[in-house]
Amino acid sequence: MKVADTVATMREALRLVNRPLGFVPTMGGLHEGHLALIRRAQRENSTLAASIFVNPAQFGPQDDFSTYPRDMTSDLAILEDEGVDLAFTPSTGEMYPDGFDTRVEVGALSDCLEGKSRPGHFRGVATVVCKLLSIVRPDRAYFGRKDLQQTVVVKRMTADLNLGAEVVVTPTVREPDGLAFSSRNAYLNPKERAAAAVLHLALRTAARLRGEGVADPRRIREEMEKLIAREPLAAVDYVSVADPESLEELDTIDGPAVASLAVWIGKTRLIDNLSI
Ligand code: PAF
Repeated sequence: MKVADTVATMREALRLVNRPLGFVPTMGGLHEGHLALIRRAQRENSTLAASIFVNPAQFGPQDDFSTYPRDMTSDLAILEDEGVDLAFTPSTGEMYPDGFDTRVEVGALSDCLEGKSRPGHFRGVATVVCKLLSIVRPDRAYFGRKDLQQTVVVKRMTADLNLGAEVVVTPTVREPDGLAFSSRNAYLNPKERAAAAVLHLALRTAARLRGEGVADPRRIREEMEKLIAREPLAAVDYVSVADPESLEELDTIDGPAVASLAVWIGKTRLIDNLSI
């Protein structure tokens, strides 16, 4: 595996690769969810690139940028074991050199849900993903469905800016109790880890109610909130039943819908979603 930590060396390494080129952008802290992305990208492409960059621009002042799990040695070993051909590991200065002054802003899709709770988050995501896609120029880029709003925002941006990569969204990978794999699960102590199962329970409740014919999203949100309130270590940030493409909250469910939520488990904020 070739490791490049500058844009120039990454571009040089990419010059003669066999196409199609698949790309998995990550912030490291690699887990089963990332492995699913990497393995899918591996199957569908002749060359596989991945990046590890903890992007300061997508963290707010109250967010966990300084404590975000970082273990470059172990992450690179995982990428190598998985057969990744090229790893891009830029420094913050390489991605945002002195004088950097451009932001990519995707409109309404960035304002609701995560964007409302974390103002500026998607400006940071869109900016870095735009830069990464411009540097790597992949045929396909892979993102996990757990970050549903991120996938919607990235798809919009990629189409609007003609970035030329197909955005592939892969299913959420879960622990046996339903908790979605996330780098932030590493923050949970054993009691919090057990409590975190409530996210998936709430989503399953939403799917069950919908399956029983409930078409009123208010009722579904209420039941999800009630269930989470019974878990003493959990506190709801938001619960949503929305259109999976526009992400607008639904008044009534008469087509595709996605239940999503953000929940604090102690000091750790976790998100998840499920089609219902
Ligand atoms: O999902 C992530 O890990 C990040 O948001 C991404 C897409 C790598 C951009 O920093």
